[in-house]
Amino acid sequence: MDYESFLELVKCRRSVRTFKPDPIPRETVNQIIEAARFAPSAGNSQPWEFIVITDPGTKDKIVEFVMENHRILEKVELAREEELRYVWKESGEKNPGIKQAPVFILVCGDARISGVNPILTTLTRGDSHFDSNLSGAFLYMSLAAAALGLGSQRVSATGSPIIKPFIRALLNIPPELDIYHMCVLGYQAATPKERYVRDRDEMVHDESYDQTKYRSDEDIRHYIVQQRQRRR
Ligand SMILES: Cc1cc2nc3c(=O)[nH]c(=O)nc-3n(C[C@H](O)[C@H](O)[C@H](O)COP(=O)(O)O)c2cc1C
Repeated sequence: MDYESFLELVKCRRSVRTFKPDPIPRETVNQIIEAARFAPSAGNSQPWEFIVITDPGTKDKIVEFVMENHRILEKVELAREEELRYVWKESGEKNPGIKQAPVFILVCGDARISGVNPILTTLTRGDSHFDSNLSGAFLYMSLAAAALGLGSQRVSATGSPIIKPFIRALLNIPPELDIYHMCVLGYQAATPKERYVRDRDEMVHDESYDQTKYRSDEDIRHYIVQQRQRRR
């Protein structure tokens, strides 16, 4: 593959929030997981497990847990200054488009396997390695989905301690496994809005950190406020 094709794939991977209900062939789902199998992992620990969910009743229950989590997040957000407040969109978020999506893949991981690493690595950086491992596998799945003409959405709420116990019980997930994020897959029903991407020059520092590029608290606040406006 040449760089241009690779970059095109990277750019066309978007978070899709409205899906068509059309089913996805199991072979296509397998192709997506196949890519995740080759993700890098600390000490080649490969802690991942993938739960593929297509049953409408099970999917509805998961969506309800995710919505419950959203309702709590939304209440807490009210305590925040209005300009910085995160606002959920009516479509795709409050009435989640994921309801229509035919396949959910819940990514779980077994942290016990981090024992393949040096013990001090596990003790001091086990958690961050664990998340990085699963995030890498997740990203490979999203890219594979894009390459296959499918849309995907990351639902990180499944990792929230508020709803994790319910998902664990629903899907019979052993206590030794941790629940990470869920990949929602389907054919996209609408093209996502153009995304804002920071300029390369803003984030690249040659040889050492370039102080002229340091973002003050005011700059960070401005970025957050702009993000809120872009979402409207
Ligand atoms: C760690 C992480 C958590 C995310 N959680 C969610 C989520 O819970 N729901 C969602 O719709 N998108 C989620 N996203 C997707 C981001 O909102 C999205 O990547 C970002 O807005 C850029 O848009 P793009 O993916 O279309 O490029 C998450 C992404 C990452 C990397």
